[in-house]
This record gives sequence, structure tokens and C-alpha cells, in this order.
Amino acid sequence: MNVLVIGNGGREHAIAWKIKQSPLLSTLFCLPGNAGTDSIAINVPSIITSDSQAIIKFIQEEKIELVIIGPEQPLADGLADILISNNIKVFGPTAAAAKIESSKGFSKTFMKTSGIPTSDFEIFSEIDQALKFINNNSEHINEYVIKADGLAAGKGVILPNSYNEAVAALNKIMNDKVFGDSGNNVIIEKRITGKEVSAHAFSDGNHVIPMPFVCDHKPVFDGNKGPNTGGMGCYSPPQWLSEELQEIINEEISTKTIKALSTIDIDYAGVLYPGLMINDDSMNVLEYNCRFGDPETQILLSKLNSDLLEICVAAAEKKLHNLSIQWDQRPTVGVILASGGYPGKYETGQEITGLADVDADINIFFAGVKRENDKLLTAGGRVMAVVGSGNTLHEAREKTYKNVSKIKFDNMHYRTDIGLI
Ligand code: GLY
Repeated sequence: MNVLVIGNGGREHAIAWKIKQSPLLSTLFCLPGNAGTDSIAINVPSIITSDSQAIIKFIQEEKIELVIIGPEQPLADGLADILISNNIKVFGPTAAAAKIESSKGFSKTFMKTSGIPTSDFEIFSEIDQALKFINNNSEHINEYVIKADGLAAGKGVILPNSYNEAVAALNKIMNDKVFGDSGNNVIIEKRITGKEVSAHAFSDGNHVIPMPFVCDHKPVFDGNKGPNTGGMGCYSPPQWLSEELQEIINEEISTKTIKALSTIDIDYAGVLYPGLMINDDSMNVLEYNCRFGDPETQILLSKLNSDLLEICVAAAEKKLHNLSIQWDQRPTVGVILASGGYPGKYETGQEITGLADVDADINIFFAGVKRENDKLLTAGGRVMAVVGSGNTLHEAREKTYKNVSKIKFDNMHYRTDIGLI
């Protein structure tokens, strides 16, 4: 079977790496792909992911039988819908289903009407009304979160610590339109604290198969300090999350979400990834994602013992009920190596060395890396993920960080506490 993976991040490198191991695979293509996928697949940098007609032509020419869509933007733009209407098998939800990520207003309203636990919220389409809300709550503004309704590359969630910060956030989103039409509406919701966990599940619209839980570390510095990033590293499983709570989340959040979507005629095939906040006495969905997390995927697919291609085909064909999916039960730790300055303005073009010395049982997944004259250079904020497993979380950390220390580029930075908090 010929397979096309859409995307160019660390997540897509991990997807391509795992698909490559399938005995069902003939030829693997990545569009556009990156410097990691170029050694395991045929990269297609000449077509942009928004050009659905060129993608369909390419799929027909190369006799591609399955397309796996990695990032949220092409899903929100309806790439899956266009491919499905051209009788092409797709792993990834339609635009209507992807709305659970592409419109926070939709997802919060859906959760409220479906009995999925989430914090209280209000949706505003006029800045004057949003400002009025901020004025009325100015004394305790740090109890709220302001979110742009649409996709904002992970930058649309603001936690104001003062009245002025809240006003600035609203102006930035609704007046200056820094996120374009994604800022036509804002959601102001109650802030909740606790421990965050990523709950991924495969879905074919009828049947839901949960994946292991993963903890992502979004703030850039140790101790969860500093500005948020796309994710600086993950570990799995979170030992602090009881089996009982894991089962409740799988039933009361993931399975319930897919069932509730089907009652409003939304057939959800692909990965459902609710981000949750857990407290001693409560759990709440912070947001839904309509795809694999990044860097959660690099950790999850390192743990997957089953055939990812078989799973993706089964999800696209509504046959997930036939599968039993096996996972490496050992703890896994993944650390992101980032460019100097990230998540602010960062430098690129630094030579990366040391990869040849990395141990054979460590996985390296490239994100912001490019090849130039046989050298590997940094080309993005998050450069790569280093992923290792061990018999204990301590051992997984030791192995992963031992290998992190072998890799070098100027001004490289990473968190040293992945798996500790
Ligand atoms: N790790 C966060 C995300 O993928 O959205």
C-alpha cells in the first residue's frame, strides 16, 4: 500500500517512522516532509498543503491508498472532506469534526450541552461586551483565561495577570486581528489549576480505542516557569493518574465525546486528543485537539508495538473494533531540544553535531532541522525530540538525558525536569 503523510513537524516524522515499519507499506510519501522523513520516505516539497487539487493529482499519479493528515490546519480547512469526496481513504477528521479544535466556542458549547466537564465560559463577538466583562471582573482577572476562538498556532490562549494585560489581549485578538479571523470571537473562561494530562484515542466514529496517557510540559523553563511553548517534552505514563481515573476519562470524556458528536451527525474518524486538567476532586477538559499532539506523538509512537498503518486503515474503514492495540508498558521520556531564543525570536542555521553517538535504543525525531551540504542545521524553534524508555521512569530519564547531552548546537536549550513534575 502506498501512503502519504501530510505535515512537516516532529509529529509527522514520528508518524512516518512508525508507518515505515509496517509490512503493509509499499511506498511512503511525506508532503512536504522534513529532514527526518527524507531518509525514510519520498518528500514532496513542491506541493503546498492548502493546494488540495495538486494533492489529489499527486495521489492519483502515485496510486496512494491512504492519506494521514498530521496538523490541525489542513483538517480545519477540509482536506479530509475533499479527499473523501474523491474516494481517497483518509486518517483524520472532516472539517465539521475538526471544529472541536478549530472553534473553541463550538467546543465549549458542545461540552456544555453534552455533559462533558469543562470550566464556565462566555463567548463574545463584540469587543465592547468582552471589555465590559473584564471591567466587571477587574478585581480578580487572574481567575480567567482569554482565548481566541479559532486556530492560532498554540498562541491564542492568554492568562492575564492584570486588568491591563486582559485589555491588551482583547485588543490584540479582536481589534489588531493578530490571529486573523480566528479572533472574530473570544472565549473568556474560568481558569482552572491542577495537573495537565493529554488523553489520546483512536476513533472510527463508532469505536474508540484509548492510547496511554501522556504529560506534556508547555512552559519553556524548568519548574513550569516562563512563557508557553508548543511543548518542551513529555513522559508517559503519568504514575500519579490512578487506573480508576484513567478509565473514567476514557469512558466519560473520549468515548462520550465521540458518541455525542454522532448525535449531531458528526462522524469522527482519526485521533481525538482532549487536554485535561486534573484536581483531587475534579477533572475538566481544557480543550479538544483533532489530531495527534506534538510532542506527545513522538512518545506515543515510540511506545506503540502494533502496526500504525493497520490502525489507520481500520479507523478509515470503520473497523477499529477488530483490533487489539499493544503498547510498550515501560515508562518513556521525550525531551525537546530548542533553538536559542525560542519561544520568542530564535536563531537558526546552527550546525547540529553528536547524533552519530546516540544509543541505538533512543529515538530522534526532527522538527526544525534542515540538511545543507551534508550538514544538519537548525531551522526552527523546536529542533528535535530525543525519546527513551526504561524499566522505571528514573531509568527512562537517565537514558534520555544521557543522550541529550551528546547532541550539540550553539545556544541549544531544553528542560531538565521532564518526568519529574
Ligand atoms: N502538545 C500540545 C499540542 O500538540 O497541542
